[in-house]
Amino acid sequence: MGVIIAFANQKGGVGKTTSAVNISACLGNEGYKTLLIDLDPQGNATQGLGFNKHTLEHTTYSALLLDLPIQDAIRNTEYKNVYLIPSNSSLAGAEVELIEMDNREYKLRTTISPIISNFDYIIIDCPPALGLLTINGLVSAQKVIVPLQCEYYALEGLGELLQTVKRIRENFNPNLEISGILLTMFQHTNLSRQVVSEVQQYLGNKVFQTIVPRNVTLSEAPSFGKPVIYYDGKSLGAQAYIALTKEIISRESQ
Ligand SMILES: Nc1ncnc2c1ncn2[C@@H]1O[C@H](COP(=O)(O)OP(=O)(O)O)[C@@H](O)[C@H]1O
Ligand SMILES: [Mg+2]
Repeated sequence: MGVIIAFANQKGGVGKTTSAVNISACLGNEGYKTLLIDLDPQGNATQGLGFNKHTLEHTTYSALLLDLPIQDAIRNTEYKNVYLIPSNSSLAGAEVELIEMDNREYKLRTTISPIISNFDYIIIDCPPALGLLTINGLVSAQKVIVPLQCEYYALEGLGELLQTVKRIRENFNPNLEISGILLTMFQHTNLSRQVVSEVQQYLGNKVFQTIVPRNVTLSEAPSFGKPVIYYDGKSLGAQAYIALTKEIISRESQ
């Protein structure tokens, strides 16, 4: 019965989309029917699964704000057990249009409720902001995964994000839990090691054991519209996301 996981961090470029796309592909490959919802007007997750964001008929926007039946927005992908609700710049308007609406925080949750039981996992790729789209993502989810880049200022903004999660739990979605903090773009430098040890000290067992290395394969794969396991399954990036997916699955069954 559909576990819904949002990838969120208001910082851009921390690995939300890379993680959402690759974990979706790995979950699918492990036999779990998985829906990836692209909730970012930049449409990077959509491109990462091989879709042209400029020629989409139905998108997250149509389902969320034009009352298109949600089933009609779901696309089959080339990848085993992976489905997509794609997105493009049309979704940028949603941030403003939602403000005027009743139950604006619950729009996505209401929209996807008829299809939750059709999937084992629903992965939501949030935009790099703490606006209404991300709030909709978090109100719809049971779990949130927070990617942090192993760089200076990794923890900057994390307090604000955790505050937002707390507020959403209190006001809209008492079931929301932090599934884990995900360290990404690790390099074998003193700085990366220092960030890892600081984050582990500060956040303890909330941090996933699997750390995703900086790996060029992960940045190349999206330009071919492929998740990394289908682009170069032996690469370090692919191995990291396979291990991470197993860790996520085992956290679910605990
Ligand atoms: N582990 C990694 N190694 C190398 N490049 C990465 C890695 N993770 C992400 N990238 C690249 O970094 C950029 C930002 O990542 P992305 O997942 O789009 O971040 P976000 O969705 O948080 O903005 C992208 O160009 C992506 O290809
Ligand atoms: Mg992104």
